[in-house]
Amino acid sequence: MTITEEIKQLKKEKNAVILAHYYVTPEVQDIADYIGDSFYLSKIAVGLEEQTIVYCGVSFMGESAKVLNPEKTVLMPDAEADCPMAHMADRETIERMRETYEDLAVVCYINSTAELKQYSDVCVTSANAVQIVKALPNKNIFFIPDRNLAHFVAEQVPEKHFVYNEGFCPIHEEMQLEELKRAKEAHPNALVLTHPECTKAILELSDYIGSTSGIINYAKNSDAEEFIICTENGVRHKLEKENPGKRFYFTETEPVCADMKKITLEKILHVLKTGENEVQISEELRELSKRPLEKMLELAK
Ligand code: 13P
Ligand code: SF4
Repeated sequence: MTITEEIKQLKKEKNAVILAHYYVTPEVQDIADYIGDSFYLSKIAVGLEEQTIVYCGVSFMGESAKVLNPEKTVLMPDAEADCPMAHMADRETIERMRETYEDLAVVCYINSTAELKQYSDVCVTSANAVQIVKALPNKNIFFIPDRNLAHFVAEQVPEKHFVYNEGFCPIHEEMQLEELKRAKEAHPNALVLTHPECTKAILELSDYIGSTSGIINYAKNSDAEEFIICTENGVRHKLEKENPGKRFYFTETEPVCADMKKITLEKILHVLKTGENEVQISEELRELSKRPLEKMLELAK
């Protein structure tokens, strides 16, 4: 039996379902039952019939799935796969901001630990941040942890006052403007599709800015034939699969999220066999971090 067949068989035996983010490797994407961006995956995780969720992504994603579905078993193929940005904010600063601004909404990018979510008013993803911030009654917004997404949202919602936090995604932050300029010179007809975790300089050269699903949908629906993609290289798989006639380029130094790439078929098989790496979360933390996640799902309807 191949490893893929073994996974499929065990999945049935254990009543399990596999969720995967677009940044994981192509072979892991191909074995998944559901694949998507953070927003889609957080929505789909609610109301699945299977008892066990194998989450092919980083720890904040598995945590959110567990928070929203406490009765389910959530297994992480690699317990060390973590998003560095998810830790780039702190309780003390949040409390200081709440004292400084009476009318403050703490808006928490879903790429954050449950620990941070519990001090926040609402979660957002890159797919719904603008819509949700617009819908909030608060004038003052403290946006954690990502400063790049915060600046992007602030530009779309000029009526609000933003306080920024110094977090960032190292993979998107390190994308080089010079490399993008060279890619544009090499492919003058290509449209630039960019994730809002990139820096302002990269966003300014972009034709479209959106989540990973947003980028994939844009490329599919566009009449253009060439695209320069400014996000993690895992999205190439879906882009090429869905658009055989179109060409996709990345910058010379392709952005790779080493944590997302830790997920392998062998590790999926291992957790299915052993039940190891189950996401555990205390009832108190679960209750507190559930509120901003549920508020997001409600406001993004
Ligand atoms: P999406 O919201 O597009 O899934 O992005 C998640 C992420 O980790 C980006 O680096
Ligand atoms: Fe975190 Fe960046 Fe990896 Fe996304 S690409 S999971 S934000 S480190």
